[in-house]
Amino acid sequence: LASARRIIITACGTAMHAGFMAKYFIEKYARIPVNVEIASEMRYADMIIDENDAVIVISQSGETADTLAALRLSKKRGAKVLSIVNVAGSTMARESDNVILTKAGREIAVATTKAYSAQLVALYALGIFVSEKRGTITADKEKSLITELKKLPVKIGETLEKVNESVKSVAREIFNGQDVFYIGRLSDYATACEGSLKLKEISYINSQVYAAGELKHGTISLINQGTSVVAVASQRNVFSKTLSNIAEVEARGAKVICVTDEKMSENISEEYEKIVVADTIEEFKSSLLVIPLQLLSYYTAKLKGCDIDKPKNLAKSVTVE
Ligand code: G6P
Repeated sequence: LASARRIIITACGTAMHAGFMAKYFIEKYARIPVNVEIASEMRYADMIIDENDAVIVISQSGETADTLAALRLSKKRGAKVLSIVNVAGSTMARESDNVILTKAGREIAVATTKAYSAQLVALYALGIFVSEKRGTITADKEKSLITELKKLPVKIGETLEKVNESVKSVAREIFNGQDVFYIGRLSDYATACEGSLKLKEISYINSQVYAAGELKHGTISLINQGTSVVAVASQRNVFSKTLSNIAEVEARGAKVICVTDEKMSENISEEYEKIVVADTIEEFKSSLLVIPLQLLSYYTAKLKGCDIDKPKNLAKSVTVE
């Protein structure tokens, strides 16, 4: 990976959202260009891939048909393939040049949660080690990133406690509604993608996700009085931009729910409803921000009486096209 000209990450669904996050992290620290490709598109796209590329496939099951096809295509074209999978001995694990096992334990519910969290951590760790090999981060930075990474399990525990009541109250507001929009920028956008998918998957509420800056290019026409908008706002370098987007939808009548952390919450007006997670460094915030979004889907689905573990029309592992 450290000597690759480019890294291509390919996956489906939630695993692809982990890939979105990894792109920001790896490009920032390892300074290697990273493309994230939808596996079902990549397999037919006749992409330019060769031995200078390193391909990372991400999959909980290690069996998703489209991701497997993208893996085989990449190998055929000479790229080295690393898989990040949760199931040891799965087809992807067997066919890749190298494997990272996420070891999240057996995941039974169709909508993935803990495997996603484990994928993020595997990708952060990978990014740190590739950066170290390339000499693009200092030993001190490497050490501080790893120290913070190790604190995440405790902080996830704290976050679960902190957000529980506020998430329940938001669930009560949205479970009877028609649409929920999710917005965010950069890694907050990646988190919002996952939050929106989780809500659709298990509560069957129509949900759309937008990079906050794209709102004015169409979506804002869908915002009416009382439309729910979940805004993920944690990234310092784009914080003021996201705040303007929040103000834009609010001015058009949206009911905004801000998902943020303790530090950034101080800069968000008290007039907005907030869900506030524990603090960590900028790079790992998504691991905490996704917790209330997963929980929001859970409580919303529960209020609607949906089968949370087995949502309709979905399969845990999609082994056919
Ligand atoms: C299915 C599941 C999703 C999952 C996707 C990829 O669509 O319903 O929750 O994210 O497959 O699965 P994988 O096993 O490859 O991570």
